[in-house]
Amino acid sequence: SSGMYKFYSNGEWMESTSGKGVSILNPASNESVYQVQACTQKEVDSVFEAAKKAQKAWARTPLWKRAEYLHKVDGIMKDNAQPMADALMNEVAKGAKDSLTEVIRSGDLIAYTAEEGVRYLGEGMLLNSDSFPGQDRSKLCMASKVPLGVVLCIPPFNYPVNLAVSKIAPALMAGNTVVIKPPTQGAVAATHMVQAFHKAGVPPGVINLVTGRGSEIGDYLTTHALVNCISFTGGDTGLSICKKAGMVPIQMELGGKDVCIVCEDADLELTAKNIIKGGFSYSGQRCTAVKLVLVLESVADKLVSMVSKQVDGLSVGKPEDNCTITPVISKSSADFIEGLVKDAEAKGAKLMQKYRREGNLIWPVLLDHVTPEMRLAWEEPFGPVVPVVRVKTVEEAIDHCNANNLALQGCVFSRDIDQAIRVSDAMETGTVQINGAPARGPDHFPFQGFRDSGIGSQGIKNSLAMMVKTKTTVLNLK
Ligand code: G3H
Repeated sequence: SSGMYKFYSNGEWMESTSGKGVSILNPASNESVYQVQACTQKEVDSVFEAAKKAQKAWARTPLWKRAEYLHKVDGIMKDNAQPMADALMNEVAKGAKDSLTEVIRSGDLIAYTAEEGVRYLGEGMLLNSDSFPGQDRSKLCMASKVPLGVVLCIPPFNYPVNLAVSKIAPALMAGNTVVIKPPTQGAVAATHMVQAFHKAGVPPGVINLVTGRGSEIGDYLTTHALVNCISFTGGDTGLSICKKAGMVPIQMELGGKDVCIVCEDADLELTAKNIIKGGFSYSGQRCTAVKLVLVLESVADKLVSMVSKQVDGLSVGKPEDNCTITPVISKSSADFIEGLVKDAEAKGAKLMQKYRREGNLIWPVLLDHVTPEMRLAWEEPFGPVVPVVRVKTVEEAIDHCNANNLALQGCVFSRDIDQAIRVSDAMETGTVQINGAPARGPDHFPFQGFRDSGIGSQGIKNSLAMMVKTKTTVLNLK
């Protein structure tokens, strides 16, 4: 089937026996731009078997050598960044510059993981028995970090490359092999990324990629008997994966409703700038986007007018032209976003910009006077839409933040560092940024969601730690 991207199993690029493909729609045109293989359940089996078979030898490959492979991948990714970036533009409508940045950032992440990995994974623990009451010094315990086995990596559409390597690199470094199921939109960028591992000479079976319809292979993948760990980033699907998964370590990040609490003494210029950057970059399609502003009444008029002016100036259009606002991922996503805006409008919110949509392209809009009765006060739009709720006290803002089942990040703006720390301590979210927009990076920072936003902590070191288990050998001395 010419023109159809292949899947990758046991070191080879393959066509599915299904003879079928899955079309990838370009968000700007809603027309098919690429095709990937519709893999069968049998092919999923063979990919897992390849990964399992390769794992033991990979784990025996010296740590420094695994690091060497990863450094090679970093170089190859950067040398071939453009095809990956082009795919990102075509599949997920990410701006040209941001697409390239995603690839470079991913190379850097891989290299950093290699460096962190040789140190961290090379360290074990040695314990003498006589520190525990009643024991003498006759036992020596040696604890080391050993791989889990086969890690299933499922990245989301908004970072098909970066959130793939944030799972793959620590998994491989720790001696695991991987099976990747990319999002359909983003599958071609992920395919180019896997090609970098192939070119680097990573042995067959160590890294594998399957594509296909979630309805056919989704559950089959996540409940597969050969899965030893799942690392997933995405939406609600994660909750059902968690419920069905067996006794395997799980790392999940499932989105957020990141609030921005604006205190009376906040630097409003700085705050406005960060609401724009945090709320509207990549059209708000980031799990860490600012998704709700909770502002103290006394400064609300001023802040809203400052932010609104900047919203008017945002560029709207094509990813090729580097616009900040580009078409959102799909028609259903655009419909969902529109539903949230209409609900708020009907219940009395004030739209600071006229609502406008062409296909999947939604013009950015700031909504003032949003109230807790509106869906936008609680739900995650994943679009260029930022609601503002005016609050009487900082406590009211904190309570709103903590009442949501989504709890990824959040931010607080205040010139009083003691107050900012107090607010941060009271916010029950995975991360709180003080005087800055929520963001996952830099990629070595711990990254985690509380409640329905996820389980486990990511960031380079935490992911390395999550993808190993402790093995102890006890030496009983005569
Ligand atoms: O969409 C979820 C990502 O983990 C957010 O990453 O903060 O680098 O945009 P970012």
